[in-house]
Amino acid sequence: MSNRTFTMIKPDAMKNGHAGAILDKIIKAGFRVVALKQTKLSAEKAGEFYAVHKERPFYGELVEFMSSGVIIAAILEKDNAVADFRTLIGATDPAKADEGTIRKLFATSVGENAVHGSDSDENAKIEGSFFFSGLEQY
Ligand code: CMP
Repeated sequence: MSNRTFTMIKPDAMKNGHAGAILDKIIKAGFRVVALKQTKLSAEKAGEFYAVHKERPFYGELVEFMSSGVIIAAILEKDNAVADFRTLIGATDPAKADEGTIRKLFATSVGENAVHGSDSDENAKIEGSFFFSGLEQY
C-alpha cells in the first residue's frame, strides 16, 4: 500500500554539499515528493522534535547538531515507504550501514548521519505535520 514517510537532510550533509545527490537517490528509488522545504531548527524546536530521546546521553549533542545549520525537510510517498526508506538510508551508524546506502555514502558519524527517516507510520505523520500543514502536502 502506498504510504508516507518523513525525512530530513541534516546539517552535515547540507554543509558537505550532498543535498542534491541525496535527493537524486531518493527520487530514483521511487519516492514521490509530497512536500519539501529548506529550513533551520532553533535549539528549542530541535529539542521538541527529538523529545523522545530526552533521556538519552546524546540528546544535548543531537539538539545542538540539528540546530547548527540549515536542513531540508520532506514528506515522501511510496509503497511501503517507512521500511523502504530505512533500507535506502542504512543503519544509524554509517560504519554499520550497507554499501550503497545514503548513510554509507554521505554520513560522517552516528551523530552526524546525513539523513533522518521515520521509524513508523505513526511517527511519519507526527513528524511530517511538525513541519508541514495539510495545505503544503500534495
Ligand atoms: P535519527 O534517525 O535522526 O534519530 C535519532 C538520532 O539520534 C539519530 O538519527 C542519530 O543522529 C542520533 N544518535 C543516535 N545514537 C547516537 C549516539 N550514540 N551518539 C550521537 N547521536 C546519536
